[in-house]
Amino acid sequence: MPTHRFDLSGKTALITGAAGLLGLEHAAALLECDATVVLTDISERQLAEAEQKLNGEFPVANILVHEMDVSSPEAIQSVQKALSNQGIEIDILINNAAIDPKVKDGTGIVETSRLENFPREQWDLQLAVGLTGALLCSQIFGSSMAHSGNGGVILNIASDLSAFAPDQRLYRKEGLPDDMQPVKPVTYSVIKAGLVGLTRYLATYWADQGVRSNALSPGGVFNEQGKEFVQRLSSLIPMGRMAERDEYRAAVQFLCSDASSYMNGQNVVMDGGRSTW
Ligand SMILES: NC(=O)c1ccc[n+]([C@@H]2O[C@H](COP(=O)([O-])OP(=O)(O)OC[C@H]3O[C@@H](n4cnc5c(N)ncnc54)[C@H](O)[C@@H]3O)[C@@H](O)[C@H]2O)c1
Repeated sequence: MPTHRFDLSGKTALITGAAGLLGLEHAAALLECDATVVLTDISERQLAEAEQKLNGEFPVANILVHEMDVSSPEAIQSVQKALSNQGIEIDILINNAAIDPKVKDGTGIVETSRLENFPREQWDLQLAVGLTGALLCSQIFGSSMAHSGNGGVILNIASDLSAFAPDQRLYRKEGLPDDMQPVKPVTYSVIKAGLVGLTRYLATYWADQGVRSNALSPGGVFNEQGKEFVQRLSSLIPMGRMAERDEYRAAVQFLCSDASSYMNGQNVVMDGGRSTW
């Protein structure tokens, strides 16, 4: 049976930013393989909605929910302690949380997504969640995986933009001067490339204790974005379209299970072929 390698029954996976678009899909992917999932996010209301959606899709789902800010070591430790008190240890960690790095200036005088004007507070905030958050969760949950004797898996959700630079022409708005054109912020590239570095570091650090670490780099997911943007982006993708939100589920199942037992330290880029053009 080729499928037993994907079996996650008896395993517990914690997902950060689990109430968002892809977090929910990662949770569904692992529930399909019979894992217990711990959904964590900063928004209690969104977490409750996510849990409800997943309970609808999986009638016998094992779902736990914890509010957790990944930028706070105390918050992460407190979730670990609460789980531990229930006899639950984490076998799989998916570092998925991120702040949508679109910066709206609101003043109409400067475009704050541009490098020249990019606010230091936004740099600090976005890195604290997208990169430092992944480090803190790996420190806390990865250490216990390493010391448990059972090993574990860390999956960092990067982006196709971990592999190449943003094409700023995608974000151009008609009628605006060059210095007012919105751009994909620098934080996105830095966080995603940083996550690949963290992945490689972790992959070697605990390898002898059975902890594997890989990154998944998804391309853009179609989520009712504007027609013009979708057309522009699709024209850069050999497959001619953006991803459907559930198209990364099988990759998550592969990377979090024994199906990938000899894969460690890699960045799996799933981008419809964009990076090959
Ligand atoms: N959607 C895409 O097209 C796409 C493409 C490539 C990569 N990604 C990556 O996938 C991941 C998920 O993206 P998404 O589209 O689901 O985004 P999303 O904005 O829908 O979800 C991100 C979640 O992170 C949570 N979050 C924000 N700050 C947090 C904090 N301090 N602590 C804990 N949680 C926090 C948010 O509440 C949100 O639920 C991100 O890392 C993103 O960069 C997404």
